[in-house]
Amino acid sequence: MNAADSSLLSRYGGNLPRYTSYPTAAQFSDAVGPDDSRAWLSSLPADQPVSLYLHVPFCDTLCRFCGCNTAVLRNADARAAYAALLHEELRRIITLIGPGRRVTHLQWGGGTPTTLPASAMRRVMQAIRRDFDIAPDAEISIEVDPRHLPPDYPALLHELGFNRASMGVQDLDADVQDACGRIQSWEQTSDCLTALRDAGVNSINIDLIYGLPRQDTAGVARTARAVASLHPDRLAVFGYAHVPWKQKRQNLMPVGDLPGPQTRIAQRAAIDATLRNEGFLPVGLDHYVSPHDSMARAMASGTLHRNFQGYTTDTAPALIGVGASAISSLPGGMTQNAVSSAAYARLMGNSPDSLPVVRGVKLDADDHVRAAIIEQVMCDLRVDLAEVCAQYHLPTSHFVPELAHLAPMVADGLVRITGRQIQVTEKGRQFVRHVAAAFDRYLTADSATRHASAL
Ligand SMILES: C[S@@+](CC[C@H](N)C(=O)[O-])C[C@H]1O[C@@H](n2cnc3c(N)ncnc32)[C@H](O)[C@@H]1O
Ligand code: SF4
Repeated sequence: MNAADSSLLSRYGGNLPRYTSYPTAAQFSDAVGPDDSRAWLSSLPADQPVSLYLHVPFCDTLCRFCGCNTAVLRNADARAAYAALLHEELRRIITLIGPGRRVTHLQWGGGTPTTLPASAMRRVMQAIRRDFDIAPDAEISIEVDPRHLPPDYPALLHELGFNRASMGVQDLDADVQDACGRIQSWEQTSDCLTALRDAGVNSINIDLIYGLPRQDTAGVARTARAVASLHPDRLAVFGYAHVPWKQKRQNLMPVGDLPGPQTRIAQRAAIDATLRNEGFLPVGLDHYVSPHDSMARAMASGTLHRNFQGYTTDTAPALIGVGASAISSLPGGMTQNAVSSAAYARLMGNSPDSLPVVRGVKLDADDHVRAAIIEQVMCDLRVDLAEVCAQYHLPTSHFVPELAHLAPMVADGLVRITGRQIQVTEKGRQFVRHVAAAFDRYLTADSATRHASAL
């Protein structure tokens, strides 16, 4: 890294949200609860489609780096009982939004949703197909762990209509895997991908992480080259989020071996160069896609979106989260369910129509316009403030203070401003969260410390 890059680092280090939503989850409070959720769900216009996200907070084993809400639950009956609760929560939601609602995206995440017994997964999916109207071209996806995919699952996923699977790889290096407590052979990764594709689950995402203990630049580039040879349709390349105040298990890693910010930047650059060289197109902050993937088309047509699961081609105005810790994003506001599966089950048991919502945030007019700007910046790396102001009936001078705030980024060559148009440069891509942050009216130096490293 040269002196100019080091000085960028000193100005743009620190912590920031990933802006998978605005306001971010840091703004959630218990001032919002089940009654708000009920009101916002009931007022969804009948002719509008929704997306569904179902969260399964169980894994076969836990990885030390993982920041997700998940635990090991050995008892298969208990996992089936959790699936029955998902079904019941969906039933309660349908009483509010009406039966036969069109679904354009359906995603199972976690944790590891394939920890649900096959019969339980089949029951929930059959109920969804019966009670909702799944669009013929809907993306139906699931997160899988290549080390523990049950042999009957690929065929089951195809039978139930899944057309995309997302699998974690993170890093192929044995020392890094040892530091993270996630030992995953090359054969497990490639066999999993082949089994899914052979079964007819054609679109595959692979997740990689840089910034893990013992990773080095040459090693992450080797991992990127190797997984590229499997021809995944999409890759997510996450910077390791070290948040031990939220996830104590991260302290079980050799944290003294965590790479510093300069090395993280070099690792990200090495993966970026490798994947571009292999023909993948960069998308937003952290995705790479095959030019034939639907996300490449969404990017080209300016219809890419960002939600709690990251970048998406989903255009539905409402995302309904089901299960422990799941977040819903509705036009009225955002809500989150009880985080632990025990608390979730308890709230579901309160009454036959109770919703397990514990916190959230109500959106006002200013939140909506800033959310639109932040989403465009994060997805398209550009935004025309004049267009946004016209759309929201605001004077074109409305965001002058925010534009002024970006002046140092312009001087650093990370952003270009022409009139009211903001364009993040290629050099600025990894700083896109800093551009978004200029429009975040809740962010303070103090609140930023609750997020992970911005670089
Ligand atoms: C919810 S996990 C599900 C993946 C699946 N259970 C597996 O392990 O293969 C989705 C992805 O989140 C990413 N992830 C988890 N913890 C992270 C952290 N602390 N920092 C960055 N990425 C993380 C990993 O890349 C992981 O594959
Ligand atoms: S990375 Fe996947 S398998 Fe590992 S703990 Fe997180 S969700 Fe579970």
